[in-house]
Parts: sequence; C-alpha cells; structure tokens
Amino acid sequence: MRKRDLVSIADLTDREIEEIFQLADAMVDLNPIASHAKSCAGKIMATLFYEPSTRTRLSFESAMQRLGGSAISCPDMRSSSAAKGESIADTARVVSSYADVLVIRHYWDGAVQAMAEFADVPVVNAGDGSHEHPTQTLCDLYTLKKEKGNLKGLTVVICGDLKHGRTVHSLVYALARFGVHVVTLAANGMELPEYVIEKLQNEHHYSPLPLVSRDLQAVVEQPDAIYLTPNRPHQLALFTRVDEELQDDLSKMAPGLKFDAFYVTRKQKERLREPVAEGEASYPRIGDRFLKEKRFKDAVVMHPLPRVDELSPAVDKDRRGIYFKQAAYGVPVRMALLSFLMNDSASSHPAKKYLTVYRGPEGAISACANANCVTRTEPTSTDLRFEVLPPGSSETLNLRCFYCDHRFKVQLVGHVRSKRYCPYDRGLKEIVDGWLREGDLIVFDTIKQAEELGYEPYRTGPQRNLMDEAELRAAVKRISESIGRETEDRDSLVIVGIRTKGAFLARRIARELEKQWQRRFETREIEMYGSGGQPEMVLPEDPKLPAPDLHDREVILVDDVIHTGRTVRAALSLIFQSARPRSVRLAVLIDRGLRELPVKPDYVGKHIPSADRERVRVKLREVEQNERDKVVVYSIINADDSNQRSALSSNSEADS
Ligand code: NCD
Repeated sequence: MRKRDLVSIADLTDREIEEIFQLADAMVDLNPIASHAKSCAGKIMATLFYEPSTRTRLSFESAMQRLGGSAISCPDMRSSSAAKGESIADTARVVSSYADVLVIRHYWDGAVQAMAEFADVPVVNAGDGSHEHPTQTLCDLYTLKKEKGNLKGLTVVICGDLKHGRTVHSLVYALARFGVHVVTLAANGMELPEYVIEKLQNEHHYSPLPLVSRDLQAVVEQPDAIYLTPNRPHQLALFTRVDEELQDDLSKMAPGLKFDAFYVTRKQKERLREPVAEGEASYPRIGDRFLKEKRFKDAVVMHPLPRVDELSPAVDKDRRGIYFKQAAYGVPVRMALLSFLMNDSASSHPAKKYLTVYRGPEGAISACANANCVTRTEPTSTDLRFEVLPPGSSETLNLRCFYCDHRFKVQLVGHVRSKRYCPYDRGLKEIVDGWLREGDLIVFDTIKQAEELGYEPYRTGPQRNLMDEAELRAAVKRISESIGRETEDRDSLVIVGIRTKGAFLARRIARELEKQWQRRFETREIEMYGSGGQPEMVLPEDPKLPAPDLHDREVILVDDVIHTGRTVRAALSLIFQSARPRSVRLAVLIDRGLRELPVKPDYVGKHIPSADRERVRVKLREVEQNERDKVVVYSIINADDSNQRSALSSNSEADS
C-alpha cells in the first residue's frame, strides 16, 4: 500500500478535508478520555525544522502527545548532519527508520516533496520555502468555517506579501476549491506569482480579483502605491488601449463586495532576493482605521502569525481579531490530521495525477527556472521532472516543475537519439509528444548548452522570403510615421520592446521618431523569461536616459511577430502590474493571424497568414551574424524523417 504524504493541499480531496474537520471537532475540547485520545499510541513523530517555527512545530508535537504518541526532534537542523553536508535524501531515509511520521519544514521550494520520496513513512509539509504550507491552510479553513458557519460564497481579502507567502499559496488553492471569492490586496511588487494564478485558472477555473486600493483605503495606509488591474487577465487582451474609462469601469466592480475576512500576512523578509519596488509605506496594514469602518463590522481578521507591524495590537481586543484562536486550533486540527494519516484508510489515496511528466535524460542540464527550487540547490536528491502543460504561446514548450510548481518555458528542444535540436514551435507539438513518449526529449536553455552536449541543429525545410532588407526598412519607417502622427503628447511617449527582436525593432522605431522630431525618446524592454521564468521589465543594454516611469505615459509596445497573442497579453499584464499608463498601443512587424486572444495590433508592417506548422522568422542584422535583414517562412521537418532531412540539408539553411 502506498504511504500517504501531505506535501501540497492538493494531496487532500475536499471530502477528506471535511473528514479531518469532523475529527477536529471531536478533538477541539481536548478531552483526554475520548476514544481518539489513544489513536496514535506507541507512534513516534519526528519533526525536522530547517527554519524557525513556534506554532507549527509545537502544535504538532502537542497534537502527537495528546494522541498518545510521542515526538522526537532535532532542536535545530543547523546542528544536525545537514551542517556536515548530508543530503536531504539521506536525512529523510535515516529519520524515517526512527519514526512513524515526519513533519518537515525547509527553506527550499520543493524540498519536502524530495524528502517524501526517500522516506518510508508519511511526510507532512510544514512549509517549504515560498511554495506551500498545507497544514496552516487546514487551520485557516477550519477557523473560517467555525467563525462563519460555511465557506461557500464568502469573500476573503488576502493581504500583504502574496508573492513569497507559502501560507497564502496553499490557502488560495483551497479557497477556490471551496467556492470562496478571493480578493487579493498585495503589497506592491508582491503580487501572487504567475504560476499560482495559472494553477488557479487551469486547475480550479478561478481568477482572484486584484483589488483597487481606493476601495480599501481603510486598511491601506498609502493607497496610491497599489494599482488596479483587471480581475481576469484576459480582459486586458481585449484592449490594446487601456484608458481611464476602463480603469473606472473596473474600479466600480469592487465596491459592491462584502468582505467576510481579511487574511493578513507579514512581509517575508528572509525570502527577498532583491529589494522590492515600493517602500515600507505601501505595505497593507490593518489598524485603527479598519476597526472604525462600518462596512468591515462583520469582517474577521486572520493571520498565520508571527505578525510584525502589518497588524496592530489594537485589533487584539476586538471581537473580529481571531488570529490567536486560529493558532489555538492548530492543535485539534493537527491531531485530526495525524490521526487521519496514521489511519490505514488514508493510505489508499491515488498518487498525484500529472498529465505527462518529462524527465530530463542523463546529462541534461536544463533546470527549473526558480532559483530557490530544490532541483537547483540539491540536484543529488532530485531529478529533472516536469509536468508538460498544454501548449500556450506558440514558441515555447511549457513545463511545470514537479517539486516547486514553477512554470518553466523552453524554446529549444532536442531529440536524444539523433542528437539534433531545434526551436520549439506549437506546430511541432505532436512530434515532440512522440519524443516525450519514447524518452527521446531533451530541453535546453541556450544553443550553447545544446552544442556543448554535442547536439547539432536540425536543418529546416525550404524557406520562402517574405520581406527583404529594403521592405523591412520601409515597414519600420511606415510604422514610425503612423505612431508619430497619432501621438498627441510627445513628452509622454515611451517605447517598450519585447526582447529580443521586438526590442531591436523598438530601438529602430525610436531612432526613426528621433529623426522626425529631433528629440530623444525613452525606451524600455521586456524580458519574457526573466528570473524565475517570469516576464520582467528591464532597461535597454545601452540606456540613453534613466529608467522611465510608465505611469500616465503613452506606451508603444513593440514585438516582431504576433501569432496567438499570448506573449503580448503577458507583456500587457506586466506593464499594468508596474504602472498605470495613459494608453498602450501595439506595433508589430508581422501579423501571422491565427490569434487565440483578441489582441489587435495598432500598427502592422505586414500581414502574413501562415499555417500553424510554419515558422516565421524575422532576421535582424543586430542578432544574426553576417546576415541582412529579412523575414522568412519555413516548416520544420519531422525528427524521424531522416530521408527528408538529408535530402533537404544540402540546400537549406541551418536553423539557429
Ligand atoms: C507562517 C510560515 O512559517 O510560513 N507561520 C506559520 O507557520 N504559522 C507565516 C510566516 O512565517 O509569516
């Protein structure tokens, strides 16, 4: 029989969560003569905490002892063999021979999943990096249910550091499952990560509503620092000009909401790799103003604790402040969980279902994009395992790390047996699926990486020239002239290019406009695969002027080719996360049609309807060595079709 772990809140079904709550109800009075009192008699729980903890560890230890079991622990994992360099795999193996259940907290995302695979006994995640904290979620849901009677239909505002808060991540997945409306009030730069939003959308068909601070002035000390973004990212795609009117429409959606609970979280300072954009002042805080607001009279205030200064002690005495009760429920809820996990009936749960899992072959060096992922920090205890997500953007293969859930986009795929690689294209999906099934797929971050492993590029099929140097120059000039004509306020213009080729085109457009108007323009660039695989706003490599603020500016977003519209949508969301521009207009050199999202470019160099299997490549002299500007279209040849490949390789160009 499989052992039962709790690594993610997804490891428990809704029914099981209800069952645990029923057990907790029976344990809440902690009656020692009740039948459950001995349900863990003779069992040993080991707590392995690589990070500080008060509530989680003590409530687990208390819970086990109240169930008749006992707890062993390493008081500080820094004084364990970890300090001598022992792998987490070895620690898990060894300790699982001393105990019947392991409760683990670790600072790496995904570390508990990795340890669970080496332990012979059930493993419970007591918090892994910024990833998840499922038992805190059980306490949170239990408290909310006790307080409000029912979960369905409630509206919960989640405040603070939603980017790094692991309690928040497990909680939003669970709230979405139980029909709770989630409103997010993030500190600036600490919004829910894209991978969490995507998981909510893909697996729970739910989009949380990021809220206007204006509507919540009573809780936020510095309301200007938080911007309104639409509740469903796809709405952005409907508008390439997002103006005041739209912003107002969206802000009207918020005031009708009734708030049942505020879930406040502290800034996870220990997880900040770089300073965040806004200062301390913009961090959402609950204090006197909250208490005085009539419309929050029935809203309870929760906090996983510890609090720092985001929750004023003034709330402690108010009936709405229920966070100490929430912490106290930690014991009965964890008693219920331990007794559930130690019970044989719990062992029959099926393993997590992954659609298709990609395991990197021996020697593959492409790693998860999340720098804090256990696969990066401890490759000896993990393997390269990714869930293959349904195709999104046309030019990337979307993978999700099995350990930390971060999305991972790859642009280069290779065929292990033939040692060939090529850029991924949605048209190649079936071919690549075949490689995956046969264990022949390998993914690369860069061409250099592929070549260092001895891989050679596939030859591409015959190419058709769609635009030559002169046509490309004329198209850029035409686009620049139209932008010039339609710009009302020259001072407000900022040109933002999507890297790599969109950014070079943006610079060319800026140069044309500079010639027309005899003045300089500010430019910025968007890196779609920034740190952590997330889109990022960056400065051009040779910035002429300091970083422009996009607030209240007329933005021109530039890309080389538009196809499905997904890249542009992601870029638009990023722009609106960072500022509130006056308008955003979209300029592309090539419009391939076949759009999945209703994004309409304002300026197009050339419309080139093309089939899914075809690849349109814009070649720019800034990027290609020894080449002139041109646009070509070609199809990629099936990996297994070696006859075709050798026949074509003699008269076609190498794909780079
Ligand atoms: C949380 C944690 O460790 O993630 N605390 C807890 O378990 N109650 C929240 C935090 O540290 O901010």
